[in-house]
Amino acid sequence: MNILIIGSGGREHTFAWKISQSSLCDRLFVAPGNSGTSEIATNVDLNVNDFDGIKALVLKENIEMVVVGPEDPLVNGIHDFFLQDKGLQHIAVIGPEQKAAQLEGSKEFAKEFLYRHQIPTAAYKSFTKENVGEGYKFLETLKPPYVLKADGLAAGKGVLILNDLDEAKAELKRMLIDSKFGIASEKVVIEEFLDGIELSCFVLTDGKNYKILPTAKDYKRIGEGDTGLNTGGMGAISPVPFATSEFLNKIEQRIVKPTIDGLQKDNLPYKGFVFIGLIKVNEDPFVIEYNVRMGDPETEAVLPRVKNDLVQVFQAISKGTLDQVELDIDDRAATTVVLVSGGYPETYEKGKTISGLHLVNDAVVFHAGAKKDNGSIVTSGGRVLAVTAFGKEYHEAIKKSYQNINKISFDKMYYRKDIGFDL
Ligand code: AMP
Ligand code: GLY
Repeated sequence: MNILIIGSGGREHTFAWKISQSSLCDRLFVAPGNSGTSEIATNVDLNVNDFDGIKALVLKENIEMVVVGPEDPLVNGIHDFFLQDKGLQHIAVIGPEQKAAQLEGSKEFAKEFLYRHQIPTAAYKSFTKENVGEGYKFLETLKPPYVLKADGLAAGKGVLILNDLDEAKAELKRMLIDSKFGIASEKVVIEEFLDGIELSCFVLTDGKNYKILPTAKDYKRIGEGDTGLNTGGMGAISPVPFATSEFLNKIEQRIVKPTIDGLQKDNLPYKGFVFIGLIKVNEDPFVIEYNVRMGDPETEAVLPRVKNDLVQVFQAISKGTLDQVELDIDDRAATTVVLVSGGYPETYEKGKTISGLHLVNDAVVFHAGAKKDNGSIVTSGGRVLAVTAFGKEYHEAIKKSYQNINKISFDKMYYRKDIGFDL
C-alpha cells in the first residue's frame, strides 16, 4: 500500500526509515519531510495543517494509510477530517480523533481526565482572567517551586517553574491578563511541584487494546548537567535503566490501564500513540503530561528497538486487533544525541553545509532541520540531526553515538556531551 507520513522532524525520518523496511509499503510519501526522508521516500511540500492539500495528495497518489507525526494536526482534527469525508473514510489514520487529542491540546482537560480516573498526578487548580485573584491566593497556599502551565499548545514553551512567589504571581498575570502565550494562556493550570526523575512511557492503542513500547528518557535542557533553556530535546536513551520490572508494573497497573479504560469510558476515540510523561517520586510513578504522538527525539531511540513490521502494527491499530500483535523488542540499548545549530533554542543561523555524513559507521543519522540544497545537505532548523547507536547497555551505545558525531560537522554545531550523565 501507499503510505503518507505527516511532519518534518527526526521523528518523522525515523518513521520513514522504519516503514520503508516493510514489505507492505509500496510508495512512501512524507509531507513536508526533510533531506533524510527524501532519500527513502517522496517529499511533498505541504503544511501539516493544510488538510485540503493533504486530501488532494491522498486521492492523487492512492494513499491508504496516514501516519501523523506532530500534535498540531491531531489537535486540529485531521483524523475527524478523514472520517467525515466519504472519499477518505476508509483510510487508516494513525493518531487520535480531535476529542481525544485534547489530552495534549488542553492541560486542564488532561488534569480532569487524570482525576476522573484516579490516575496519580500532581494536585492542581485552573484559573482564567476572571478569577486571577484566586490564582494569587492559591499560589500562597503552595510551597515553592511553583508550576504554571498554559492550558493550550504553546510549542513546548508553556510551562514555567518559578522559585519566587512574587515572580510566580507576576507570571500568572502575564499569562492570563497580558496573553503571554496568546490564547494558549487564557487558562492556566497551577500545580503542585513533584520532585523526582523523569521518564517517558509510550503506549500504542487501538482504543481498547494496548501495547507498551520501550521506555525512554529525554534530555530537554540545552546545557550540560540539565541547565539552561528548555529545548525540544537534546538526546534520549532507551530503555531507562532505573525502570525496573517492578516499577514498570506500577506504571502499567496505575497509569496505562486506567488511561486506556478511561478513553473508552469517556468515549474518546483513540488509534495511535499515547506518550505519557512520568516522574518517579520515591518509588512511585506520577503523570506529568500526556502527549498524543511519539516524542522527538525519543522516537529515534525507541523505534529502532522495535523489530516488528511497523505497517502491520499500524494495520492492527486501525482494525482494532492490536491484541493479536506481539511486540518484538531488541534487548540492546539505543541512544540518540541531537546536533543543533549554535544559538538554539534562541536565534540561530541556517544554511550551513553539513559534512561527514558518509563517514558514519554502525550508527543511524536521522535528519530533522536539514534540507537538500544544490546537491549538498544544509541546516534548516534548530535541531538538525539525531545520531542513534546501539549497545549492549547504554554506555556502549552512547560511546558509539559520540564516536560518529566526531565525524560530522557544520558551522556552529553544538550538542550535549553528557547524555545519560544522571543515570
Ligand atoms: P511539559 O511542557 O508539560 O513537558 O513540561 C515541561 C517540564 O516541566 C516537564 O518535563 C517537567 O520537567 C516539568 N514539570 C511539569 N510539571 C511538573 C510538576 N508538577 N512538577 C515538577 N516538574 C514539572
Ligand atoms: N521530547 C519531548 C517531546 O517530544 O515532547
